[in-house]
Amino acid sequence: MKATFESVQGKVAVVTGASRGIGEAIARAFAANGMKVVLAARSEEQGQKVAGEIVAQGGDAVFVRTDCSDPAQIKALVEKAVETYGRLDGFVSNAGIGMGGNPLHEYEMEEYERIFALNSEGVFAGMKYAAEAIFRSKSKGGFLINVASVAGIVPQRGQALYTATKFGVVGMTRAAALDYAAYGITVNAICPGYTKISIFGDIPEAAMAMFAKDCPAGRMGDPMECAWLALFLASDMARYITGAVIPVDGALSAGHQNVTTWKNPGLYAGTAEN
Ligand SMILES: NC(=O)c1ccc[n+]([C@@H]2O[C@H](COP(=O)([O-])OP(=O)(O)OC[C@H]3O[C@@H](n4cnc5c(N)ncnc54)[C@H](O)[C@@H]3O)[C@@H](O)[C@H]2O)c1
Repeated sequence: MKATFESVQGKVAVVTGASRGIGEAIARAFAANGMKVVLAARSEEQGQKVAGEIVAQGGDAVFVRTDCSDPAQIKALVEKAVETYGRLDGFVSNAGIGMGGNPLHEYEMEEYERIFALNSEGVFAGMKYAAEAIFRSKSKGGFLINVASVAGIVPQRGQALYTATKFGVVGMTRAAALDYAAYGITVNAICPGYTKISIFGDIPEAAMAMFAKDCPAGRMGDPMECAWLALFLASDMARYITGAVIPVDGALSAGHQNVTTWKNPGLYAGTAEN
């Protein structure tokens, strides 16, 4: 049987943090395959630019300026999506901030509030209001996708708060999957590893090389590699996949690296892409 993404055509989905990075890649992949996409982010200029480009390429998309650390704005975002397209089938909670590099005691209480407001409370609000709207839409292919992190699977040194938020997202994803498994909404988490986007800021080449070296695959990920998974999870090919926490990380979270010597390195010559 030949695989097809036809089942996503006409589905209406919100993608948060869609003005750049992984969220932008997901929004573009959804729209390119016939979904109606509501892009949310704080940057009006950048968000309108991405939505405009999608429309110029024949896709169906609108941008709604939203601060996802404010539950009232997320509620309004879901209402706007339903008002615009008449229904809602899916919601991708992708907006998130990183915060890192310090031992736990050096974080300030204000930083705790700030990161939990977006990475945790914002995800809860998105799931809550979207689930209600998906039910009201009588969707036959409803889905919630949360973009967590490898830090939601393996705690990261110097990242106590970020790790805590992402473990929370993974827990909320799995619990909600139980809530909705019998009622037609799938709930899954995508866990990116080191992915080439601005969450790392303008870091030197040497640091990028260090991330690549730390990853068993020997390279950083591309945002599209998360987007393809999101598209599959949004499709009806994935209706039996729910409560899954799926790394897109070149085996970063699979275990610890160790010294390995291949007795016959000629075996992989010409096959390894990294
Ligand atoms: N890039 C990585 O290596 C990596 C690794 C693991 C997890 N992640 C996760 O992937 C998700 C996307 O991050 P990214 O890597 O694309 O980063 P990014 O910084 O490029 O994009 C983040 C997006 O979220 C938006 N955003 C930030 N704060 C917001 C707010 N308060 N309200 C609304 N939108 C807001 C930004 O405008 C942007 O569109 C995040 O949840 C992040 O934790 C990224």
